[in-house]
Amino acid sequence: MRYIPIEKTEQDMILARSVYDNTGRVLLSCGTVLTDEYIDKLYDRGLPGIYIEDKLAEDIEIEEAISEELRNEGAEALRNGDVDAAMGVGRRIVDEIIQNPRVTLDLIDLRSYDDYTYRHSVNVAVISTVIGINMQLNRLALDELSIAAILHDIGKRRIDPKIINKKGKLTPEEYTEVKRHSEYGYEMVKSRIDLSAKIKNAILLHHENEDGSGYPKGLKGNQIFIYAKIIHVADVFDALTAKRPYKKAYAQSEAAEYLMGSCDRMFDREVVKAFLQCVSLYPKGTQVQLSNGKEALVVEATKSPLRPKVRIIEDGTDMDLSSLYEYRNITIVPPHDGDIS
Ligand SMILES: [Fe+2]
Repeated sequence: MRYIPIEKTEQDMILARSVYDNTGRVLLSCGTVLTDEYIDKLYDRGLPGIYIEDKLAEDIEIEEAISEELRNEGAEALRNGDVDAAMGVGRRIVDEIIQNPRVTLDLIDLRSYDDYTYRHSVNVAVISTVIGINMQLNRLALDELSIAAILHDIGKRRIDPKIINKKGKLTPEEYTEVKRHSEYGYEMVKSRIDLSAKIKNAILLHHENEDGSGYPKGLKGNQIFIYAKIIHVADVFDALTAKRPYKKAYAQSEAAEYLMGSCDRMFDREVVKAFLQCVSLYPKGTQVQLSNGKEALVVEATKSPLRPKVRIIEDGTDMDLSSLYEYRNITIVPPHDGDIS
């Protein structure tokens, strides 16, 4: 299958993955042939793009880190503010990911504007767990990390939805209020005896920066516990790669570059390093532009993160860009303008 940004979807394309509405119900199921009416529906939902089946990409398979059912269940638990259900989903995220610990973060989550907040939190739990596995955390720690990650923004429930869902720029007062969400979240969970102090601490400190410039406490480096550091990286990466009403989606390569450039200032270098080992800079099935002017699809990752195996769209030939002997003069042109395609 292959990923098509929403602007490039056309009639008669065949959906390779179902599209859900924001209550988790199937809106268009896998195998649907797109019509103009369906394309309008997808636009209305504010989706970044879709996965389609076509001849050129029929052998490109993209594994899900966790099942769509579990994603939907997590989003539903958060929508209802059900902490117990969210904790259960947090543990099951670890269950599903450790069954396939070599999973890479390839799949672009097809979320709309409306369900951003909840799906974002599920994604942050998935990304945090994958980083945690890479950093060799044990099962108990992974469970705690995943639960802290899925609950990290729970405090946003205390903030006026008009501010949270505002499409334009926040006023300074609104921004101050939004920044309180980590303390609100901590207050909401602090008396629960079934959540460890480490989990509560991670919810409180997930916006702290390495250099002390974060909030709410302005803690630095090793004053910040590892769970909060991991969630911070996962949170920023997922927010950058999301399409929002006021911004385009960053490509994964651009978001990864941002993380690298912010090591020691915002992020812990070791956490970013572990993250880069599991994220695909150029996700499978996405379209890239090569320096020789040709358009290509990413077929699979290689040992060289910037040089995956690609397929030329024009004629279907494959090129392993990591084979420097053959293709050393060809590179992927970095995407500009935050365009994921
Ligand atoms: Fe947050």
